[in-house]
Amino acid sequence: MPEYELSVIGAGRVASQLAGALHTAGVQIRNIYSRNSEKANLLAGRLASFALSGDLATAIHSLPPKSIYLVCVADDAIPSVCQHLDVLEGLVIHTSGSVPLQHLAHSRTAVLYPLQTFSPDRPLNLAEVPFFIEASHAEVLEWLYGFAHLLSPHIKEVSSDTRQWIHLLGVISNNFINHLLVEAEQLAVDHGLSFASLHPLVLETIQKAFEISPALAQTGPAARGDQTTIAKHQQLLTEQAPHLLPLYNLFTEAILKRKKE
Ligand SMILES: NC(=O)c1ccc[n+]([C@@H]2O[C@H](COP(=O)([O-])OP(=O)(O)OC[C@H]3O[C@@H](n4cnc5c(N)ncnc54)[C@H](OP(=O)(O)O)[C@@H]3O)[C@@H](O)[C@H]2O)c1
Repeated sequence: MPEYELSVIGAGRVASQLAGALHTAGVQIRNIYSRNSEKANLLAGRLASFALSGDLATAIHSLPPKSIYLVCVADDAIPSVCQHLDVLEGLVIHTSGSVPLQHLAHSRTAVLYPLQTFSPDRPLNLAEVPFFIEASHAEVLEWLYGFAHLLSPHIKEVSSDTRQWIHLLGVISNNFINHLLVEAEQLAVDHGLSFASLHPLVLETIQKAFEISPALAQTGPAARGDQTTIAKHQQLLTEQAPHLLPLYNLFTEAILKRKKE
């Protein structure tokens, strides 16, 4: 296997953070490819690597063959991007929670999935992030353990089947919770209230869930069975934010059902 020198495909949230951390760890990032030349130039400039952009089928000829390609593109684009890379006969690593390794079985492939939420210009301490890995060959897996340890000590090998469940847990516990906060922020704005005043409540909710288990931590009108309060909330939403009523009812019913179990 080649040592730690690679090309990065994609210049979005995950590409920027992983490439930045790998660069800091001493990995040579030879190329950054993005179909968007501005993004490729920006990231390549930070990492002292070469920027490539435009049509991947053309740009591919400027990538070194038999190298390592870290593919950080949208899930739906991974199979087609990897198919292009196959002519280079290297090791293709993707970072998705949901794309099975078997979808790329025609070449040497691996997965390096970070269980964290990435946003532009929001640096993360990757050493605290769990990475779930998988590889097509035993020697690739051995190499990947060493490579992933450049980013974090929390490395675990899992199958594609297990990884899709981990990803689903991530969607529920991050994307869905965040969406509820989006709606709470909008309601706060609409009624001239402070979203920031929810900060201690939300922090305590998360801390308590991990300290004593979320099942034991549930409070609120549905957990208490306060039907009058629930009816008042339903009335408020019906009058002023009807789009939230189905969500409110769904959660209320789910909490009431848990309470009965
Ligand atoms: N964001 C997270 O929190 C997170 C966490 C763990 C794993 N991941 C995984 O990491 C991967 C990248 O996610 P991300 O959040 O970094 O996404 P992102 O910020 O949206 O960046 C996606 C990158 O893929 C490129 N791209 C999209 N479609 C393409 C196509 N058809 N051909 C070539 N390039 C294409 C985009 O180019 P343009 O800029 O030109 O659109 C961009 O460079 C995904 O597999 C995702 O599931 C994400």
